Amino acid sequence: MRRKLAAGNWKMNGLTASLVEIEKLLETHPDPGCEMLICPPATLIAQVAWRCRNKHLKIGAQDCHWEAAGAHTGDISAPMLADAGASYVILGHSERRTDHEETDAEIAAKTEAAWAAGLTAIVCVGESERQRDLGTALPVVGGQLDTSLPAGCTGENLVVAYEPIWAIGTGRTPSPAEIAEMHDFMRAALVGRFGDAAKDIRLLYGGSVKPANAAEIFGISNVDGALVGGASLKAADFGAIIDALASA
Ligand code: PGA
Repeated sequence: MRRKLAAGNWKMNGLTASLVEIEKLLETHPDPGCEMLICPPATLIAQVAWRCRNKHLKIGAQDCHWEAAGAHTGDISAPMLADAGASYVILGHSERRTDHEETDAEIAAKTEAAWAAGLTAIVCVGESERQRDLGTALPVVGGQLDTSLPAGCTGENLVVAYEPIWAIGTGRTPSPAEIAEMHDFMRAALVGRFGDAAKDIRLLYGGSVKPANAAEIFGISNVDGALVGGASLKAADFGAIIDALASA
């Protein structure tokens, strides 16, 4: 049984004043009926984690370094995130692959670093618009899964987020049939490589998920939840998405 996961990715948004949205979410969703996760900017992790102790809201980070400590000015390691109260970390988001030229090999190393610190990795994959138009979305994502994931993936240590780059922050989404095709393909690829353990790996869809399209997306085969950007910034919108997932 895969526990459904609604994950909010705040990206580079959020000041202390934004904590009011966390308070609202805790108030309206004390017992959400699915797993609820917010990944705020690193500056807020410790404060949010403190507010969420003994609550049904988990905290994640948006990146980590592949080493546990050392001379890497400005970087944050997985043990630091765990120490601040995170239990998840998003890795290989397309914005990091683009802005910081992150490679699949680095993402695999970061995934192992996350595991060593006891964090669950949410590894992101997804094709560009050009790749989708060329008909290569499946092999592109298959290749990313092959090289971004280290050996030993299980439902406990890994979540995969399929985020077509052209759907992120654009208001556009693939059709339900396209999402189903990709998620079924990813499940088969993961089971092919990791065996039965991969049946428990949760597959999230990400890219312009909002209250209006959440129920339809959550009804699709092998969609176990969502990675939500813009719509996770407001408790009312994220709450509506959580409700849609809990009742899917
Ligand atoms: P979006 O972002 O929901 O704003 O499209 C999703 C993501 O990048 O995780």
